[in-house]
Amino acid sequence: MQKISIKDLSDHVGKEVTLNGWLYNKRSGGKIKFLVLRDGTGYLQCVYFKGNVSDEIFEIADKIGQESSISVTGKVKEEKRAPGGFELDATGLKIISEAVDYPITPKEHGIEFLMDKRHLWLRSSKQVAILKIRHRIVKAVRDFFDENGFTLMDTPILTPAACEGTSTLFETDYFDLGKAYLTQSGQLYAEAGAMALGKVYTFGPTFRAEKSKTRRHLTEFWMVEPEVAFNNLNDNMDLAEEFLEYVVQTVLRDREEELKVIERNTDLLKNVKRPLPRISYDDAVEILKKKGIDFQYGNDLGGTDETVISNEFDKPVMVHRYPAEVKAFYMKRDPENPKLALAVDVLAPEGYGEIIGGSQREDDLNVLQERIKEHNLPMEAFEWYLDLRRFGSVPHSGFGMGLERTVGWICGLDHVRETIPFPRMIYRNTP
Ligand code: 4AD
Ligand code: MG
Repeated sequence: MQKISIKDLSDHVGKEVTLNGWLYNKRSGGKIKFLVLRDGTGYLQCVYFKGNVSDEIFEIADKIGQESSISVTGKVKEEKRAPGGFELDATGLKIISEAVDYPITPKEHGIEFLMDKRHLWLRSSKQVAILKIRHRIVKAVRDFFDENGFTLMDTPILTPAACEGTSTLFETDYFDLGKAYLTQSGQLYAEAGAMALGKVYTFGPTFRAEKSKTRRHLTEFWMVEPEVAFNNLNDNMDLAEEFLEYVVQTVLRDREEELKVIERNTDLLKNVKRPLPRISYDDAVEILKKKGIDFQYGNDLGGTDETVISNEFDKPVMVHRYPAEVKAFYMKRDPENPKLALAVDVLAPEGYGEIIGGSQREDDLNVLQERIKEHNLPMEAFEWYLDLRRFGSVPHSGFGMGLERTVGWICGLDHVRETIPFPRMIYRNTP
């Protein structure tokens, strides 16, 4: 007997097959039992008729608990009304391992309960769909850079210094060498890579000891960061919008079914095509004023401000040239107004806020040394980074896109905790 997956059923219509999986759900009439099997590739309704199967099998079908692992055998039938379009005229049923009193039932559960049972919650149809969309986003990210001349460069997780400010560093003892920190961003190393390879990207886990308890903040999240030698801020924005268009359009094309499962309205996602609107920080502040928001010029945009600004657009909006004071030490100042940094943030529509942050980098040795001092960062730890400005420095730019915020936006979720299999947040580090 051939072992097959639910997704391959169309090749087996009329044939007898065996499938392995878990019992998703069960319904019964008097002489008939409907067992819905799931195997990670889809769902299949298996129909057990009393009389078609032995009494023993019929009894098992009656008693077996949700999420028991089972093996079913039967003939594949086309059935337009069934989810997936097929049904199994079942003849056999074997229990691989019985599950009794599975804690997650079709009734509503509170979010904390579900988060405690995250290792099981992942099996539900909505979570499966989100994981599949996340995977497709990751692959689209890699495909985009791989096909556009970028070299993947993995950067270290244990690092000697801060990249994105010292207030969100996770610290650990590092043998006789003192302290090490979990990376906040692979950027500084990607810059070294760009000087070696021209165009690179790094894609890995990053860490922020964020004290923020918001729907956008994780303490461990994945970030993809391209870095390109000879790109200025405009080139950087061109790259960001081409990249976003590719990722979103690819997911819309390849994950239509999963987006339906999670009931995502995709109207605005379809708009994610070049060109994306570009506004300056000053323009953004004007919008806030017009909307009656009490905003102090010079501050960084907060989550609510970002929502108000992005609500003015039906596509992601790029906000560039922020006050240098609220941005990282490595950002180049605008030669036309040194109070501003050549930074860009991309704000997603529908209230999702910043999904991309990037900039042109300071490429002058002396200026960069000044910045490191101004930010009270340890100069010795940055000597290697300063070498990039000593030996063949060039203008260069890059950005970082947070994977979970992007998944949250594309899936239309109201919290990042459902965008990653096992989220790490200020108040949760289990399971
Ligand atoms: O704006 P950020 O801090 O930029 C950097 O780290 C740069 N070094 C990137 C670069 O230029 N190479 O972070 C970039 C993105 C944000 O736009 C957001 O999507 C995500 O990373 N991000 C977070 N996602 C979830 N939880 C957090 N605590 C996040 N902090 C940043
Ligand atoms: Mg940022």
